[in-house]
Amino acid sequence: MNIDVVIIGLILILSALYALFNIFGVVGLGCGIALIVTYFVLLKLRPQKPKEKSAFQNIKFKVPFILILGVIIWFVAGKFNFPIWWQIEFVAFAIVGFCFFTLLDWKTLTVEKSASAWIMRLLATYALASGIFITATAQLPQFDPEFELAKLNKPPLVLGDAAGPEVIAAGREVFQNNKCFNCHKVFWEGNSDRGPNLGTKQIGLYSTDYIKEQILDPRKKQSPGFDDPKSIKAMPTYYDEDLSEDELSALTSYLKTLRDPTHMPVEGKFGNQWTWWDDPDIIAEGKTVFEGTHPATEGLNCAVCHGKDGIPMMTGALDFRNENNPDTEKMPDRIDKLLKDWPDGLWYRRVTRGVDNTPMAPWGTIFEHQYLWKAEAYARTFHDPLDNRTAKRPVPPVPTKEEVEKWKTDSLFLEPLL
Ligand code: HEC
Ligand code: HEC
Repeated sequence: MNIDVVIIGLILILSALYALFNIFGVVGLGCGIALIVTYFVLLKLRPQKPKEKSAFQNIKFKVPFILILGVIIWFVAGKFNFPIWWQIEFVAFAIVGFCFFTLLDWKTLTVEKSASAWIMRLLATYALASGIFITATAQLPQFDPEFELAKLNKPPLVLGDAAGPEVIAAGREVFQNNKCFNCHKVFWEGNSDRGPNLGTKQIGLYSTDYIKEQILDPRKKQSPGFDDPKSIKAMPTYYDEDLSEDELSALTSYLKTLRDPTHMPVEGKFGNQWTWWDDPDIIAEGKTVFEGTHPATEGLNCAVCHGKDGIPMMTGALDFRNENNPDTEKMPDRIDKLLKDWPDGLWYRRVTRGVDNTPMAPWGTIFEHQYLWKAEAYARTFHDPLDNRTAKRPVPPVPTKEEVEKWKTDSLFLEPLL
């Protein structure tokens, strides 16, 4: 039988099987048919006399092609948040492909004279390929059994007298050793977006009890935007057995530091995220904070001065209905922007630290900042009602390591951190 008929038959059978048993079957069948058509076209082409190419002719187009392709792969992989080692690996694959095609077009070697000669050639090729492979992979991060064993055999964490930064550092290590980074990013750090980015979500705004509960019993309350069937069951439920009391408390101390004084918290899955500014549940809760009925912020009532309907009850209190209000004149860090354009960080600073020598007190020294952010999200609706919004506020870019460090050195956080 003609070999072409066999090949086309095989492609047809495989694509048909694929189409029957795979959810992307139609795509597979389409690819199969495209392959067959290409095959026919190639068959129709008149056979050309094979021409030897010089080494330069061989790589003339391949080198610029691989350079451009490598750059594209690098950036696309980066855009999809692949870790850097994956990016390197993808580009390496493209380079392997380049070598392969270069080899295919290489000048024909002289015919071997004896059986031993071709065996030598085969072995030499194999040795060369293995040598390159081993040398290259040895440069990648290695699995070190001693290191891993030392980690396993390490005595369990005992906090004892450790406090402050040491506890936080120990908690970070617990986070790392328990592979939390495999599913959770913390701002710019971590491997995948399977679970919420605990940095931009600002898990540190939540109470210690809430955070502990979410680790020990993750099914109890689903993270917003992670309620699809796959994510619901993703977070492991064995941490209540794996973590000692001290490890858990160090872990929570670390998580409590994950905040951003310059942006509203972000919820949801990568690609479909939103900030608290546009979250109806948050705004509804913020209303109860603003009106003084939230049990967690007893004694705080923005409405007493700013008015339940946004009509100020106290002269001089900011009128949230007027989107063209400037920033207060009374603070040295004044920003020349109208209320509608205020950056998130300005809202946060004013409400947590107050306005000096006015009844607008530093509420952030008394009440948990989580609820103050929520009240701000609600206060904005007086001039920018949720129903009238044409678009959500853009999700801020994930802050960089330098920015996160800067918040601390610029003392943007309040002590104690509520
Ligand atoms: C296999 C993936 C995976 C691992 C490993 C994992 N998580 Fe999660 N985690 C998730 C997913 C998915 C969610 C969101 C769904 C949910 O709420 O259960 C989540 C939710 C959470 C939440 C709740 C967030 C919220 O919105 O309230 C916390 C806190 C958390 N994880 C902490 C941790 C810590 C700490 C570790 C390591 C000890 C860890 N996770 C390990 C997948 C993971
Ligand atoms: C005791 C009265 C009082 C309460 C309670 C109060 N405010 Fe104010 N607030 C004021 C006054 C007065 C000003 C104007 C300060 C000034 O002179 O610039 C103000 C100003 C502001 C400003 C504008 C700051 C600026 O840069 O101009 C914001 C934002 C604000 N308040 C939010 C809130 C929120 C949110 C709450 C509740 C968590 C709250 N306020 C509770 C009295 C109050």
